[in-house]
Formats: sequence, C-alpha cells, structure tokens
Amino acid sequence: MSDKRVFSGVQPTGNIHLGNYLGALKQFVALQDENDCIYCIVDMHSITVPQDPEELKNHILDVAALYLAVGLDPEKSIVFVQSEVSGHAELSWILTCNSYTGELSRMTQFKSKSRGQESAPTGLFTYPILMAADILLYDTDIVPVGNDQKQHIELCRDIALRVNHKYGEDTFVVPEGQYMKEGARIMALDDPTNKMSKSAENEMSRISLLDDEKKIKKAIMRATTDSDMTIRFDPENKPGISNLLTIYGALTGTPVAELETKFDGAGYGDLKKSLVTVVTESLAPIQDRFNQIRYSDELLDILRDGSKRAGEIAEPVLERVKDRFGLGI
Ligand code: TYM
Repeated sequence: MSDKRVFSGVQPTGNIHLGNYLGALKQFVALQDENDCIYCIVDMHSITVPQDPEELKNHILDVAALYLAVGLDPEKSIVFVQSEVSGHAELSWILTCNSYTGELSRMTQFKSKSRGQESAPTGLFTYPILMAADILLYDTDIVPVGNDQKQHIELCRDIALRVNHKYGEDTFVVPEGQYMKEGARIMALDDPTNKMSKSAENEMSRISLLDDEKKIKKAIMRATTDSDMTIRFDPENKPGISNLLTIYGALTGTPVAELETKFDGAGYGDLKKSLVTVVTESLAPIQDRFNQIRYSDELLDILRDGSKRAGEIAEPVLERVKDRFGLGI
C-alpha cells in the first residue's frame, strides 16, 4: 500500500471517449488498489458553458456508471458528484482571492475557449481555481490526468505554495500531476494535430465508450492518415498513424515497437481493420457493465455514500483553511 491520496475528476458533458479512458480513467482504476482514491464527477465545472438541466442530470449518471463500468470499485474508491459537497465552492472562493488575473489569462484552455470575447462566461476564466479547490480540498498527493490538464495542475501547485508561504506551510498538501506514458494525449481521428475532445463538432473525430461497432468502424476507417504508406510511429511526420498505434498499444498493452513489427509491410487498411476489432472488443465488456448499472438503484446509493464519505474528508480540511485565514467565529 503506497497509501497516497489520489483525486481526479471528469466533466459530465457528452459521452466520455477513448482519450478520457486512456489518459485518465485507466489510471484511476490502476491506482485504486494501493491508494486512497477519490473520483469525482465535476458537474459544477460543466456549467461554465450553458447546459440543458435534464441532459446534465443524465450525463452525471452516465459518467458515474462509466466510472464503475471501467472498473472503479466503490469498496476501494470514493465515487461522488462534486455539487453534493459544498466545500468545493467554498474553497474555490478562498483560492480566488489568492490567485491573479494574469495567471488565469495565460491558461491556454481559457484562451482557446473564450477567443478573446468579452462575452466569455466568467466561469470559464475562474474554472482552474475551482479545479484547484477540488484537488486541495482532499489533501491530495497525486492527480491522474491527461496532458491537457498539465497547465491547470501547475496553477493549482502555484496557488497552494503561495498560500502555504503566507498562511503556514501545512495549510495545503502540494499535489503532483500523474500522466500516462502512452495515452496521455489521444488525438482526434479526423485531425490528428488536435486532441480528441468531447466538444468537437464532428462525431467521427472521437470514439465514445458507448459507441456501437458500426460507428467505431466508420470513425476508424475514415481516420486521417498520410500518403507515405509505412506503418511507423512518428508523431511529428505521421500523426494519424502514430495516434492509431498509440490507441492500439494502450488498449492491448502492446509496446508500439512491437506493433511496428507486427504491421511491417501491411497496409493502412489492415491496421485500421485490426484496430476496429481491438476497440470493439475492449469496449464490449465496459458497455455490458454500463447497461447493468446505469438505471439501477445501486448507482444512486453508491453516489450518496460517496458524497457522504467525501464530505467527511473535506470538512476538516476546509475548517483548517478557514482557521488559517481567520474566517468565521
Ligand atoms: P475532462 O472532463 O475534459 O477530461 C477528463 C480527463 O480526460 C483527460 N483527457 C484526455 N486524455 C488523453 N487524451 C485526450 N484526448 C484527452 N481528453 C481529455 C483529461 O486530461 C482529464 O484527465 N478540468 C478537468 C476536470 C477536473 C479535474 C479536477 C481533474 C475538474 N476538477 C480535479 C482532476 C482534478 C477536465 O475538464 O477534464
């Protein structure tokens, strides 16, 4: 037992995809045997852009069921919904008062999502502070995430160190991000120079964990490649093929070098067809478990129990922080 506190979260917007799975969820599962893990469905993050209330509620339960379907065990990990523990929002305000508009303006996700418009929602701007609050509220040591969250994790560390310097070194535990060697950045199938994302307009850019075989086949067979015709891992010159090899390797646990040998002399169509089988077979058991649990009472019981346990961990941390700041009576 390495007994580190692990915290991470996924937004309940749309269907979670292979990037989320290979960059984050696989780590969540691997870490739960040896650590004290808390996994959150970060619903308050998703309202930084407008959401349909009914859809949001469904997506929260979809992600919760997918957490369990990929192998999170509620006996080992706490699984809960962010808005059920009010400490996230409270700590977020305290951290807001200890961060700078300059550092938030430098966040690449904010820059790309707001596109410099004055009408960009304020929540998009302060989003990384809420994320820092999520992490710091649980005295977290390790945050397993994909590469795209690196800048947010660094900001969280900067804020924690700043507060510690001012209010006492043991105010916050300073967390570390943890990234997969393979899978930390899965690229879009239609444009392998961009990351696979839930919000991209083209459905064929991603494979969602609940996609059926027909959709998986269509997306992979249409995936953008190159005209060089050799199956080789070279992200700079062959981003499409390299992305397909990464997905293949991460799902089967095969080193990419071995895949290059396996597909030596084969055509792109052969690699794609084989990948369709690998993806379909990897997702089938996840989809089966999802269908068993998604509409069960057990799911709600697990989430209720999770928020109670998460709240019990968060409360003394929040009290400690408020005390350091001189807040309250
Ligand atoms: P979100 O919901 O966008 O993504 C969930 C997780 O999936 C990872 N990820 C990827 N990994 C590899 N390749 C990709 N193409 C890819 N796309 C997404 C993300 O890095 C993430 O780990 N801000 C976070 C949610 C969050 C959070 C937190 C995470 C809120 N509070 C506290 C950790 C700790 C987000 O929007 O992730």
